[in-house]
Amino acid sequence: MSSNPHETGGPGPAPELFTWEFATDPYPAYAWLRQHAPVHRTTLPSGVDAWLVTRYADARQALADARLSKNPVHHDEPAHARGKTGIPGERSAGLMTHLLNIDPPDHTRLRRLVAKAFTPRRVAAFEPRVQELTDRLIDGFAARGSADLIHEFAFPLPIYAICDLLGVPPEDQDDLRDWAGMMIRHGGGPRGGVARAVKRIRGYLAELIHRKRENLGDEDTDDLISGLIRASDHGEHLTENEVVAMCFVLLFAGFETTINLVGNGLYALMCHPVQHARLQESLAAGETSLLVTAVEELLRYDGPVEMATWRYATEALTIGGQEVAAGDPVLVVLAAADRDPERFGRPDVLDLARRDNQHLGYGHGIHYCLGAPLARLEGQTAIATLLRRLPDLRLAVDHHDLRWRGGLIMRGLRTLPVEFTPAE
Ligand code: HEM
Repeated sequence: MSSNPHETGGPGPAPELFTWEFATDPYPAYAWLRQHAPVHRTTLPSGVDAWLVTRYADARQALADARLSKNPVHHDEPAHARGKTGIPGERSAGLMTHLLNIDPPDHTRLRRLVAKAFTPRRVAAFEPRVQELTDRLIDGFAARGSADLIHEFAFPLPIYAICDLLGVPPEDQDDLRDWAGMMIRHGGGPRGGVARAVKRIRGYLAELIHRKRENLGDEDTDDLISGLIRASDHGEHLTENEVVAMCFVLLFAGFETTINLVGNGLYALMCHPVQHARLQESLAAGETSLLVTAVEELLRYDGPVEMATWRYATEALTIGGQEVAAGDPVLVVLAAADRDPERFGRPDVLDLARRDNQHLGYGHGIHYCLGAPLARLEGQTAIATLLRRLPDLRLAVDHHDLRWRGGLIMRGLRTLPVEFTPAE
């Protein structure tokens, strides 16, 4: 054996996380963690210590482990957990009783009720509206020959879509768009702005829900909010507060995620011209099977949700051979698990036709993304329509000039400037 430490191939120090370089490309750091410290204790930028789980098998198991609670009361430092559940300002606004913060049996009850209103059928019926919205947004910049696909396309699409689905009147949708924008721009802005935006959204939703309840008997109440108010299970209904919290989580959980699916996805396509062209050809031939696998692969390759939302150990347990103490926070790193070579062949290669692609981009277990059918519809419609209408879409800046918004939970581009031949 050599005495030179470099020749023994020791792993060296753990990579620095949560830096600018990490936000730009976290995958080398994740490869290191998967190999050398698959369940890794780290101090997060907020000062909270947490475990990062990076291997696919451990991640999938942790997501389904009932001993890992979603309820922040299980954190051994409850004061720290405040406001760290992925939704800025939610505590102050009293919006805690939503699906991502609760365990069974409360979770089972709420999820069953919302599933009665937010059905795949309702989402499928929404397809023409998503297509119309997508075309309208593209009409806004198609003749110009250039656009910022985040601000002009990926950002407005999901907020208008979920507003329509919920039944927010068209004249109010721009307000919600602006407030939701304030919530996700909080990285660089004052915290006060976020709390104000959350308060406005909460106040608006409470009033809208009240109005919908008064008018349930009227025609034209086939929207999701009216569906949530009507939903009943063994005679049980959602309370007024639960409907507000549910609408809020639908807005929040489906907003930045979908922006990043469209943004990260289009960027990945522009970085892979051969795959981009292949998808375009298949769309031109009227096929949709490659589009379907492509959107799943884009989620696996560079998904919007970097780490699943917080979990807390309710008792001492072992994850991937590592002991985790009761009260410890655990973050399941979906983006790392989805590049695990133990699960995916050639994981760092984008393969739009990838088969057996059971990625964790939408999570796993009882908290599996409720909005996955809507996200797929929006992702597929947005990407297919843009590729069809602007066939020579290309990046207008150098890769190094792009800036990534790296949060703890979400990762996506701040802007995506593109050029193309001006179209009708
Ligand atoms: C849960 C991803 C879009 C609503 C989740 C989780 C993930 C996820 C990873 C699980 C979090 C955890 O276990 O901690 C995504 C991605 C999306 C997307 C990648 C887009 C590409 C949407 C949309 C909606 C939505 C459009 C609704 C309009 C929800 C809700 C939950 C959830 C309500 C909580 C479910 C529960 O706790 O039972 N999502 N999501 N998501 N998602 Fe999504």
